Amino acid sequence: MTMKIQLMNVQRQHEMYATEYEEAALKVLRSGGYIGGTEVEAFEEEFAAYEGAKYGVSCGNGTDALVLALRALGIGKGDEVITVSWTFFATAESIAAVGATPVFVDVDPVTYCMDPALAEKAITNNTKAILPVHFYGNCTEMEKLRKICDRYKLYLISDCAQSTGSRFKGERKNTLGDIACFSFFPTKNLGADGDGGMVLTNNEDIVRACRSLKVHGSGKDGLWTLKREYALREKEFPASMPVGESKYYNYLIGYNSRLDTLQAAILRKKLTHMEDFIDARRRNAEFYNKALEDTDYIAPEEQKDTYHSYYIYALKHPQAQNIMKKLKAVGIACGTYYPVPLHLQGAFIELGYKEGDLPVTEDLAKHSFAIPVFPELKDSEKEYIVEQLKKFG
Ligand SMILES: Cc1ncc(COP(=O)(O)O)c(C=O)c1O
Repeated sequence: MTMKIQLMNVQRQHEMYATEYEEAALKVLRSGGYIGGTEVEAFEEEFAAYEGAKYGVSCGNGTDALVLALRALGIGKGDEVITVSWTFFATAESIAAVGATPVFVDVDPVTYCMDPALAEKAITNNTKAILPVHFYGNCTEMEKLRKICDRYKLYLISDCAQSTGSRFKGERKNTLGDIACFSFFPTKNLGADGDGGMVLTNNEDIVRACRSLKVHGSGKDGLWTLKREYALREKEFPASMPVGESKYYNYLIGYNSRLDTLQAAILRKKLTHMEDFIDARRRNAEFYNKALEDTDYIAPEEQKDTYHSYYIYALKHPQAQNIMKKLKAVGIACGTYYPVPLHLQGAFIELGYKEGDLPVTEDLAKHSFAIPVFPELKDSEKEYIVEQLKKFG
């Protein structure tokens, strides 16, 4: 009998915890306070504590978190940021959005994360930061990158959109770098019932800049950030400027990027179940790894220092495209994340990359595909998926 299995399903989790989540949402709906407030502040604190950072600044989504991080570090026109091409578009889009240039390097063929040696080779006089992605919930080799960043005086910015709950060398805080950017897109390891994002850091200067930038560069944090920028450029602060601390005094060209109070309230509840969610993802991955041991599928390998959170479980196979077609025909949703590597995307055509520049990335785009691994996947569904995989691969 054919089953129908979604690649990602957020409804099952909602059904499991419906009373808890809906009560939290209802409380906000009845409060009349929909922007900011104690739910948002509490979630920022709780999420920062969960990941092991001092401060959290929430925002509208993971893309904005990246933009805020780059802006807070003063990265812009003329600067280069080294990143990966094997990621979601937003990673490099944010770099381009602040006026800087993404420099793409290949990933490690085993971890699918940035190869630190290639990152080091790509450093030029214009490089300001290295921006790795803990792809699929796996971890980049952060210690190696930390050393490179210290040696060349570069910022280390982590795209943690796919790695909430992941650990490197035993701790979540080891995945963060100088500044870490998270997404709460509904299907993510910690997903809102809508969009959401967060910047985490231990640096108070960065926090103040992000807090101001996310509300139109206004208020006392904006003034403080502008004064800091003048001081860094060794320029005198203009005496004639109208100065006030309310939100109607704007000091920076910023954004309107907030996490809704409603989302914060729901996310606070979801955060209390994170360990169960990650455990379930890991159990599902382990089931697949064992079941596919003696097949031609190349399964993800967890490295010694890594605690993989399996946002995505992807297999590699020379016949990936054909297998995907067959899986879909028997009701199993699957797909390549992501089919067009960023260095070959139309939006980056003017950067001059060509096919063959990043062989590992290009091979993965052609020969890998994700199968369902969400926490609430049923045993019967996993067994069915393995049975069909074995038939087709
Ligand atoms: C690696 C990566 N970076 C950034 C983002 C952007 O997050 P958001 O969709 O919340 O803007 C995503 C989301 O899919 C992602 O997977």
